[in-house]
Amino acid sequence: MPKDPLDFHAIDHVEFYVSNARQAAHFYRSTLGLQPRAYAGLETGVRDRASWLIERGHVRFVLTSPIQPDLRRDISEHIAKHGDGVKDIALRVLDAKAAYDEAMRRGATSVQEPTAFEDGNGRFVRASIATYGDTIHSFIERENYRGFMPGFRPVENPPPAPDTGIAAIDHIVGNVELGAMDKWVGFYRDVLGFTQLTHFSDNQISTDFTALMSKVMQNGAGRIKFPINEPAEGKRKSQIEEYLIHYGGPGVQHIALATKDIVATVDTLRNAGINFLRVPQTYYDDLPERIGPILEDVKDLAARGILADKDDEGYLLQIFSQPMQDRPTLFYEVIRRHGCKGFGVGNFKALFEAIEREQALRGNL
Ligand code: FE2
Repeated sequence: MPKDPLDFHAIDHVEFYVSNARQAAHFYRSTLGLQPRAYAGLETGVRDRASWLIERGHVRFVLTSPIQPDLRRDISEHIAKHGDGVKDIALRVLDAKAAYDEAMRRGATSVQEPTAFEDGNGRFVRASIATYGDTIHSFIERENYRGFMPGFRPVENPPPAPDTGIAAIDHIVGNVELGAMDKWVGFYRDVLGFTQLTHFSDNQISTDFTALMSKVMQNGAGRIKFPINEPAEGKRKSQIEEYLIHYGGPGVQHIALATKDIVATVDTLRNAGINFLRVPQTYYDDLPERIGPILEDVKDLAARGILADKDDEGYLLQIFSQPMQDRPTLFYEVIRRHGCKGFGVGNFKALFEAIEREQALRGNL
């Protein structure tokens, strides 16, 4: 594996700008089982916003809200334009200044210069650069810091969260505007030093109505995977266009969460009120021939609408939620990989047809 020029270790966390972080934390606890771990706000000496760190396994989200109309216009305006959405896909590095300097040398757009925070827990450094839309990548250096981040205080006695089995972020997908795919593929290649996953088909994928292009960029170790979608000309409005209109531009389309037991995870999430896209039962008729032997029972997959795909190295199981907010923007994927390194391209057609049925219900097809 090639080494990253910017030496990325992992996705450190994903920060969302939301209109009410306290309530969003409650939602994510009761549905995805993400446990509130730390809080920053007036009570911890943070005067301009409220943030909640919620976590399960390696999945860490930060939910941030403004607490006055004009104190953090950047957050207020982000929410007014985009609704609740992902602001920052923060990446862990050993040396935030070195990563930032190298990114800038390679043509990045600066959002925040390296800034060190020190408190009784040690030293924490963050720098940020821009990516698609109003989304950013922060570089997080925390080797010499105990705790999550300066300004945060642990949540004592957090309320119980359902054990959803969610263990890690598998990939995060961005939707970019028509014609911008090559620009953003180039950004991840030239600025961040990612490579394109070539065995993933980047052919245009289309149904009767929807067409899109998708390319996957990953870091040297393959731990960080960012597929990018661009709408393509179809007969009617594509799901990517629907997203771009309702989000007000490019942004994060979905976050894929890895689990070891997708049947149990889907049951737990569905019991908690998460709705998933359904495919027709005919999808399962030829599944054994298409995928070959699998450990799970096909009946269990069919009963829940779980999809399967394979490549040379194995198979994967996946399912997609409906949008998580009133705007048809961000949604989640639950994924179980058995060796397969793909992203379910074999399911795109069945999946898009399912999404189009939902789009039609919204009058957006
Ligand atoms: Fe995905």
